[in-house]
Amino acid sequence: MQVISNIQEMQQWSRQKRLQGLTIGLVPTMGYLHAGHLSLVRTARQQCDVVIVSLFVNPMQFGAGEDFEEYPRDISRDKDLLENEKADILFTPQARDMYPPGYSFLVETEGEITGKMCGASRPGHFRGVTTVVSKLFNICGPDKAYFGQKDAQQVTILEKMVKDLNFPLEIIRVPIVREPDGLAMSSRNVYLGSEERREALVLYRSLQAAAEAIRDGEKSVEELKRTIIAIINSSPQAQIDYVEINRADDLSSIDRIEGTVLIALAVKFGTTRLIDNLIVEV
Ligand code: PAF
Repeated sequence: MQVISNIQEMQQWSRQKRLQGLTIGLVPTMGYLHAGHLSLVRTARQQCDVVIVSLFVNPMQFGAGEDFEEYPRDISRDKDLLENEKADILFTPQARDMYPPGYSFLVETEGEITGKMCGASRPGHFRGVTTVVSKLFNICGPDKAYFGQKDAQQVTILEKMVKDLNFPLEIIRVPIVREPDGLAMSSRNVYLGSEERREALVLYRSLQAAAEAIRDGEKSVEELKRTIIAIINSSPQAQIDYVEINRADDLSSIDRIEGTVLIALAVKFGTTRLIDNLIVEV
């Protein structure tokens, strides 16, 4: 695996591969890789001729007081993991090259898919994501780009961005990978103390309980939210940021369960904010 940090070099490499008629898969990450990321890389490996994994902790998508400085980093471990997965390129641009002095363009996202859930709790977050991902698309020129269902709102927004801005590529959603006990894999899980780690299991349990209630015929979104909130609140450490049930395709609001829905939540354990979700088809 080759490591490229220089943006022009990365662009040149990709241009050459395209000229050779090879398909390019891109897996954008912020590093500190876990089994969820590796499942994105594996899927890309199966579907594309060459695979680029980008590693960039994007300052633009962190708000004031968020965990940009503390975000876990271990590039040598990440490299070993990616060698194992047979990635072709690890692209590690520097912040000073991605956002040089005088940098002045942003990709703004608005409307119902952005204004709720994480977009409401983290103002400016998705603008940071859409801006950096657009730049990564322009630099790496992928045919397919891989994102985890764990960040359901992010991948929905990026699908819309690709459609609205006519990026010539396809977004591939890859299912959530969970720990054996059900906790969704996240780089932020390392922040959890042992008690918080145990209590964090209420997230998946509450999602499963809601899915079961839906299968048993419950149609009221309010009632389902109440069920979820009661289970989460059984954990003394949990502080709910949001619990939402929306249409899965465009995240529009619903009062009654119909079609395919996304149950999504964000909960803080101490200073660690975790998100999780489940898609339920009726
Ligand atoms: O999901 C992430 O890790 C980040 O939001 C992404 C897509 C790499 C953009 O910085």
